[in-house]
Amino acid sequence: MTQAEIFEPMAPGQIRSRPLSQSLTEACATIREHYDGQPKVALILGSGLGSFVEQIAGKKTIIAYDEIPGMPEARVPGHAGQLVFAEVDSVPVVVMQGRSHLYEGYSPQEVVFGVRLMLRLGAQELIVTNAAGGLSEQFSAGDLMIISDHINFTGKNCLAGPNDESLGTRFPDMTCAYDPHLASIAEKVALDIGLRLRRGVYAGVLGPCYETPAEIRMFDKLGAHAVGMSTVQEVIAARHMGVPVLGISCITNMAAGISGAPLSHGEVAETADRVKERFGQLLFGVIRELR
Ligand code: HPA
Repeated sequence: MTQAEIFEPMAPGQIRSRPLSQSLTEACATIREHYDGQPKVALILGSGLGSFVEQIAGKKTIIAYDEIPGMPEARVPGHAGQLVFAEVDSVPVVVMQGRSHLYEGYSPQEVVFGVRLMLRLGAQELIVTNAAGGLSEQFSAGDLMIISDHINFTGKNCLAGPNDESLGTRFPDMTCAYDPHLASIAEKVALDIGLRLRRGVYAGVLGPCYETPAEIRMFDKLGAHAVGMSTVQEVIAARHMGVPVLGISCITNMAAGISGAPLSHGEVAETADRVKERFGQLLFGVIRELR
């Protein structure tokens, strides 16, 4: 298939416009008008976790998503919707402060555009973070969990459609979707700073409603420890591009039916806010180790 034939699949009802690699080239050109460095680490900050950006000292280059052609807006409360270039202990980082989700009506390809862009700009590792409901009885709200693996329960895949060989292979291996070496670095950092870190499987769902208790019992039987509405598409795109991934979930609430209490976005945001210091310490420690 020639480059010109590979089109970026769009949301249902939208007209297919231009090839994905062309969209990425255009988006990179816009970034280059503001920032000419090469990020080493790419980071996605999930619901309520965006305040990590405020913890980064020094000069920042901030570009709103709506200035970047092809980049979907982040419309959910708690997602700032901007790309931030900065340095963490002299490690150049690019941060997505907020993300878009399938449940907002975006196509899987749109949802992963930001990841593809950050990796196109040269980032060599991806750290993906999210808010998630905890399934394990051992967990409590406020815990941080290293994602060891995922179950894609969204029914979607960002790689469906024509494959752009310049980005990655048609059939990417997902055996080590979450890089064991990066996970061990995070575990070492957690030990050093005295942080209790959980480890488990993340089930990615479409949303936007929270799960029923019966669905949560099913996910438990399937081997999941946490459930959330993001991340899996982004990790698939990163693995397609051959980039190793570290995944960190903030367990913002116990999943439906576990504590019996009703779930709300307010509780998710509150818990994420409560753990922001620990979360920041962990991220700073990991990025420092990647120097
Ligand atoms: N379910 C799905 N997504 C979530 C949850 C949950 O319980 N908490 C935060 N994001």
